[in-house]
Amino acid sequence: MFYDTRDNSRTLPHDPFKAIMAPRPIGWITSISAKGEINLAPYSYFNGVLSRPNLVMFSSEGYKDSVRNIEETGEFVCNLATWDLRDAMNSTSAPVARGVNEMERAGLAPAASKLVKPPRVAASPAALECKMLQIVPLKDLDGKALDGHVVIGRVIGVYIDDRFIHDGRLDTAAMKPIARCGYDEYAVVEKMFKMTRPTSP
Ligand SMILES: Cc1cc2nc3c(=O)[nH]c(=O)nc-3n(C[C@H](O)[C@H](O)[C@H](O)COP(=O)(O)O)c2cc1C
Repeated sequence: MFYDTRDNSRTLPHDPFKAIMAPRPIGWITSISAKGEINLAPYSYFNGVLSRPNLVMFSSEGYKDSVRNIEETGEFVCNLATWDLRDAMNSTSAPVARGVNEMERAGLAPAASKLVKPPRVAASPAALECKMLQIVPLKDLDGKALDGHVVIGRVIGVYIDDRFIHDGRLDTAAMKPIARCGYDEYAVVEKMFKMTRPTSP
């Protein structure tokens, strides 16, 4: 099949875009408002975008509390969402009023971050402490503003639970990260395979 996204020619009942763009890592974002209120929410339009220095981005469909907080206070933490934390992660996506602490609501203990104010999720095996670099408002082909906001952050601190470091390498599969797919589907990473990059001939 083929369809043009600009007209109504799609015959599938649900947009398969996210099922194609799968699996997506989940940035489970802690932020804090100017008043000091803690917020936690998952974002799967999330990824790393540069290695040196470490940069991440996430995209908010609508101007959500996480973006507002980050605009106010300039900092956030990306917690790794894992198989063990899947239900807690999901519960923090509930549309609750601004100022409600989703971390507390999900029964998750906070742990103080080292370099930024928003706490990390104590039970998460890895967390990236970030300073906001840019919030990019998204525009459509005709230049009209879309209600999408991409937050780009510089990772300044990296927390890793030492139990997942083996022979100096992070054992990703042992952490069982979960990833978002389409519809109500998720993937869990439990097995890795290796490939060495080709060298120039
Ligand atoms: C796994 C998962 C991934 C999500 N990814 C996104 C996303 O990339 N962008 C977005 O705007 N909302 C996403 N959501 C929905 C938000 O988590 C939800 O709207 C949440 O209430 C936003 O919280 P906040 O207003 O406290 O920032 C996702 C939800 C789940 C469960």
